[in-house]
Amino acid sequence: MDPLKELFRDVATQSYAEVRAMLKEYGDTKIDEVKLSQAYGGMRGIKSMIWETSNLDPQEGIRFRGYTIPELQEKLPKGDGKEPLPEGLFWLMLTGKLPNETNVRWLTQEWHNRSGLPKQTRKVLDAMPASTHPMALFSMGITSMSEDSVFAKRYAAGMRKSEYWDAYYEDAMTLIARLPHLAAYIYRKVFKKNKHIEPDTSLDWASNFAHMLGFDDPDFFNLMRLYLTIHADHEGGNASAHTVHLVGSTLSSPYLALASGMNALAGPLHGRANQEVIEWIFNLVGYLGTDRPDKEQIRTFVQKTIDSGRVIPGYGHAVLRRPDPRFIAQMEFAKKYIKDDPIVHIVWKLYEVVPDVLKSLGKVKNPWPNVDAHSGAILVHYGLKEYAFYTVLFGVSRALGVLAAGAWSRALGMPLERPKSLTTEQVKRDILKIT
Ligand SMILES: CC(C)(COP(=O)(O)OP(=O)(O)OC[C@H]1O[C@@H](n2cnc3c(N)ncnc32)[C@H](O)[C@@H]1OP(=O)(O)O)[C@@H](O)C(=O)NCCC(=O)NCCS
Repeated sequence: MDPLKELFRDVATQSYAEVRAMLKEYGDTKIDEVKLSQAYGGMRGIKSMIWETSNLDPQEGIRFRGYTIPELQEKLPKGDGKEPLPEGLFWLMLTGKLPNETNVRWLTQEWHNRSGLPKQTRKVLDAMPASTHPMALFSMGITSMSEDSVFAKRYAAGMRKSEYWDAYYEDAMTLIARLPHLAAYIYRKVFKKNKHIEPDTSLDWASNFAHMLGFDDPDFFNLMRLYLTIHADHEGGNASAHTVHLVGSTLSSPYLALASGMNALAGPLHGRANQEVIEWIFNLVGYLGTDRPDKEQIRTFVQKTIDSGRVIPGYGHAVLRRPDPRFIAQMEFAKKYIKDDPIVHIVWKLYEVVPDVLKSLGKVKNPWPNVDAHSGAILVHYGLKEYAFYTVLFGVSRALGVLAAGAWSRALGMPLERPKSLTTEQVKRDILKIT
């Protein structure tokens, strides 16, 4: 058994026993009450699922296994001494233990060993029209690999429930190894005339991904290490994570569950906001006729967007009530590496202007920027200008969190997810007693 799987087994076996004992003694303890406004309002804030890999505080932002992003930047093994390697975060999310350099080097190699793309996946992608959105291709690509699912094969052969975590782990590892190859294949097919680039197995997971996309600047490697770390997980209730959790609970294979989650990530209120943001910023530049607008000009454009009935992309959040630490981490990166970029300056001016405009509307619960407000400007700076691809980058990263969490769901023996729904008629008749 490989060292990561062995550690995961030991930690998860102990946790399983603890959770069973806790449920036996405290199973009837109430953790929440649900209001009618929550049932009609997207289930905001209802505590109703367990997600081990990260937790989101409205004020403080995300913690991965208890560590903030600045703490991860300090404690996780780094590529060339600058940004954390996503391999380390995956190790941490799966086991709850900080990895050392040797652990991370092993994981990089293991993912290289499991990487590549099945022939049928290339065929499926090649058969699609060039106009297909990269997120649709990404989802199809993942689905097209589901034939290789160890979980599905072993389930069909009569796998015991106590072994689900093991088979899930195998699929999670292979999927994560393959996703940069799939994403790079899509990028080069759609935007680079089908000219593909061979992987470089001397590189870490994020850098090799950058390399296969066609970017070999060491600063871009660092950007990818940071990007793929900070987008990885945002507790369990967000749409992509929750979808993977829900579909996984049917014992559908991790491949199909992940593809479902990617379909959720493709929505403009969720992951696609990173594409919307940069398109909107370039609309702003076009409308104002300058890439160095002042704050008053920016305010005019922001107001125009609001007046036309649209949301300001990259601002607001269903849980956060402060600037997103993932936005701040990217701002710090940009200050360090590309502080003179005009589009980055627009992002920073928007940060000074938009919150006041949104506050003045009197209904927006969080006027602050989220993760998507910054990423596009940095990618554009390094030459990755195909906005429609941005959500795929997010998806490659998000796989780390949702698959680590999915392995935990199987290790803890979680059942089919099945909340109760009501009709409005029932609400009026049985709850409010107003008919
Ligand atoms: C993320 C988002 C979907 C959260 O939605 P939510 O939890 O329902 O947010 P709120 O409770 O603050 O929404 C209350 C009102 O403010 C509006 N609002 C929220 N964010 C807004 C924004 N960025 N610009 C304009 N209006 C906004 C909502 O549309 C809603 O209006 P309504 O009552 O007329 O329908 C929302 O903030 C949004 O659409 N943001 C832009 C898209 C984005 O950046 N998504 C990525 C999220 S990580």
